[in-house]
Amino acid sequence: MKSESNYKVKHHFLVTTTSLFFFITFIAIITIFSHHLIYYRTDIKYTNNTLPSFNQTVTVQPKKEIETCDLFKGQWIPGAPLYTNYSCTTIPIMKNCLLQGRKDTDFLYWRWKPDKCEIPRFSAPTFLKILRGKKMAFIGDSLARNHMESLLCLLATGETPTLIEKDEDDKFTTWEFPKHNFTLTALWSPFLVTATKIVVNGTETGGFHLHLDRPDPKWLEKLPSMDYAVFNGGHWYFRQNSLYEGGNIMGCVYCPDPNVTHFGPGLAIGRSFRTAFKAINECKKCKRIVTFVRTFSPQHFENGEWNTGGDCNRSRLIGPDEVDRARPDWEYRDIQVKEAEAARDAGRERGNVFDVIDVTEMMQTRVDGHPGVYWRNKWMKGFNDCLHWCMPGPADTWNELLLETIKRQNRISS
Ligand SMILES: *[C@@H]1O[C@H](CO)[C@@H](O)[C@H](O)[C@H]1NC(C)=O
Ligand SMILES: *[C@@H]1O[C@H](CO)[C@@H](O)[C@H](O)[C@H]1NC(C)=O
Ligand SMILES: *[C@@H]1O[C@H](CO)[C@@H](O)[C@H](O)[C@H]1NC(C)=O
Ligand SMILES: *[C@@H]1O[C@H](CO)[C@@H](O)[C@H](O)[C@H]1NC(C)=O
Ligand SMILES: *[C@@H]1O[C@H](CO)[C@@H](O)[C@H](O)[C@H]1NC(C)=O
Ligand SMILES: *[C@@H]1O[C@H](CO)[C@@H](O)[C@H](O)[C@H]1NC(C)=O
Ligand SMILES: *[C@@H]1O[C@H](CO)[C@@H](O)[C@H](O)[C@H]1NC(C)=O
Repeated sequence: MKSESNYKVKHHFLVTTTSLFFFITFIAIITIFSHHLIYYRTDIKYTNNTLPSFNQTVTVQPKKEIETCDLFKGQWIPGAPLYTNYSCTTIPIMKNCLLQGRKDTDFLYWRWKPDKCEIPRFSAPTFLKILRGKKMAFIGDSLARNHMESLLCLLATGETPTLIEKDEDDKFTTWEFPKHNFTLTALWSPFLVTATKIVVNGTETGGFHLHLDRPDPKWLEKLPSMDYAVFNGGHWYFRQNSLYEGGNIMGCVYCPDPNVTHFGPGLAIGRSFRTAFKAINECKKCKRIVTFVRTFSPQHFENGEWNTGGDCNRSRLIGPDEVDRARPDWEYRDIQVKEAEAARDAGRERGNVFDVIDVTEMMQTRVDGHPGVYWRNKWMKGFNDCLHWCMPGPADTWNELLLETIKRQNRISS
């Protein structure tokens, strides 16, 4: 109970501050980052050098046309959910929207279809076969956890997982699939860099001191055992955070202090990802690692923000033309993609792979996929969850894209 209520409180501070900032600051940016900047993956070169070493018991059939189709440019088409709240026993109660009383179910019946190709539905046997003997970590905020929980449900159709490690606050957990010797870990690190709470006169402000050049040791120390690392982040950067480099204050985000330089969240997001990826490429004890960025996941509070009565009670997804372009989603996504590309170049020589699971645009239309009021908000009545994703739900697609990308990295055709 304790950790759960903590989690709720933290969760609800996630999306702090100010629709006002968004509207004023980002309208300009949205104008610049329009659709033609969508990330085309034509620059990826599959060389022997960058391939992770896999036990080649899986059939390998190179298929040129599959490798060039942009997985992330496409549309939602009718499709069935991949598991139910009965078949998956590990759905967290706060994301089990049907259990919490959600009656409309249209949101379950969509799948993602890239414009130029098909992706097969998620196959647990295929995933577990390719990743036999591997370790994968989801590193970031509560949406990293959401992503991992979805994968756990999807894989449970292939083998029942066992919880082998869990800390008191339920921030660091590891699940094992013993028959496949595959482990799945969630590592809590909402900023990826070292962060300490700002305390003024004995009271926490909700903001953090962020050391933008120091990776968070909590995940870094676990990295040497990992083969795959899936990073995300963004939603904790809207707080009044102070920014440091070399131990010296360099500025702040949304802070009231007139004497330091003010930056937008984007700068802090970019520097944090850069620092994390640099640490991966400089990690001496690490194996060759395949790193993914799962790009910024949009929230959909309407009629207010999380703390001002915002809700998300739509039962149907919207079209691309209805997406709220005033939100900064696209800016943060671009920053994350740019850092992944820079790290890819830097890591190529030592055999590291960096890839992008580019979910931002596809999730912008999924206004129907959040828990909304259906998240068992006993402790925070009147607040809605328009940030996380119902399970089953649209975030399950992230794992279909993850599997497809891993197959491409290993030149395995569908
Ligand atoms: C990859 O390595 C194999 C042998 O390990 C070699 O035959 C092949 O030519 C290499 N391909 C490239 C593109 O370097
Ligand atoms: C690949 O896996 C098979 C059985 O799972 C094993 O017998 C073989 O030794 C492995 N090969 C390598 C190179 O790890
Ligand atoms: C599963 O969802 C149904 C609604 O479809 C709900 O009535 C039931 O309580 C849920 N059960 C579990 C175990 O989550
Ligand atoms: C399981 O995988 C690890 C590497 O992650 C390897 O060291 C170990 O030998 C494997 N165990 C079995 C039983 O195959
Ligand atoms: C902290 O406490 C001091 C002394 O009571 C007070 O002068 C100051 O305004 C307080 N600072 C803040 C930010 O509340
Ligand atoms: C900001 O700097 C000015 C001039 O150096 C100084 O007078 C003022 O006290 C400073 N304000 C704060 C909040 O540190
Ligand atoms: C959805 O929210 C809006 C705005 O708060 C409200 O007017 C409407 O009645 C709600 N619809 C449902 C079905 O609850």
